[in-house]
Amino acid sequence: MDYLLKIDRNKTPKHVAIIMDGNGRWAQKQGHDRLYGHNFGVESVRESLKAAKEIGVQYLTLYAFSTENWNRPKDEVDGLMNLLVTSLANEIKELSEGGVRISAIGDLKGLPEACQNELIQAMNATNDNKEIHLNLALNYSAKWEITRAVNQLMASENLKLPVTSENIEKYLTTQGIPDPELLIRTSGEHRVSNFLLWQIAYTEFHFTDVLWPDFKREDFFKAVLDYQSRERRFGMLSEQLI
Ligand code: IPE
Ligand code: IPE
Ligand code: MG
Repeated sequence: MDYLLKIDRNKTPKHVAIIMDGNGRWAQKQGHDRLYGHNFGVESVRESLKAAKEIGVQYLTLYAFSTENWNRPKDEVDGLMNLLVTSLANEIKELSEGGVRISAIGDLKGLPEACQNELIQAMNATNDNKEIHLNLALNYSAKWEITRAVNQLMASENLKLPVTSENIEKYLTTQGIPDPELLIRTSGEHRVSNFLLWQIAYTEFHFTDVLWPDFKREDFFKAVLDYQSRERRFGMLSEQLI
């Protein structure tokens, strides 16, 4: 089925967020080590970015490494960090020419120096691009983000009580980016794993059993179609929405 043809371009989500999960299981099912799955996952990032661009999504936020992921075996953590550096280095030219603006959220100072440098280069090189914003969540967790926001707010000279939700939003790492309308999680897990807790207050969730390395363009469109089939009521009644 060609899902693309069914998508209503007037209802394209502005911001899609993805919890890219299942790389390890995908690799192990085939008798490979987990890093093999992470490597293949890069192709799914390309596919999703291409699909998002095709339908006019403006922001794509990808959960690439959580603060909890440091607890994995050292070999895997090192492999993931190397993959980040090599993928950014390999893709930067194409991303830049394709109008992709790269940004990152998370505790970036906690990343190895090589990753920080590659990220800074990628962000600088794509700073003026306008077609789509590719936002990488690295060393990110929502509880870290909200705690940091509260601390910054408390320390701010302009602090006025009572604090409003707008005040808090100004200190979130996603400041200036609209909340995601759609959150996709692959691999059959139905949880949020400390991702964007504040920003997903009214987000629609799409869960799929597809493992991340198998997630392709059509799967992205399928998720958007699922989103478009939902009625978003924001606390109101159906009849009030017409
Ligand atoms: C997602 O795949 C990638 C990261 C969390 C970095 P996993 O590595 O979590 O794969 P599974 O869930 O163990 O299969
Ligand atoms: C969430 O996946 C983090 C990323 C996709 C980067 P995990 O595989 O780490 O999540 P849990 O541990 O299964 O909740
Ligand atoms: Mg996982």
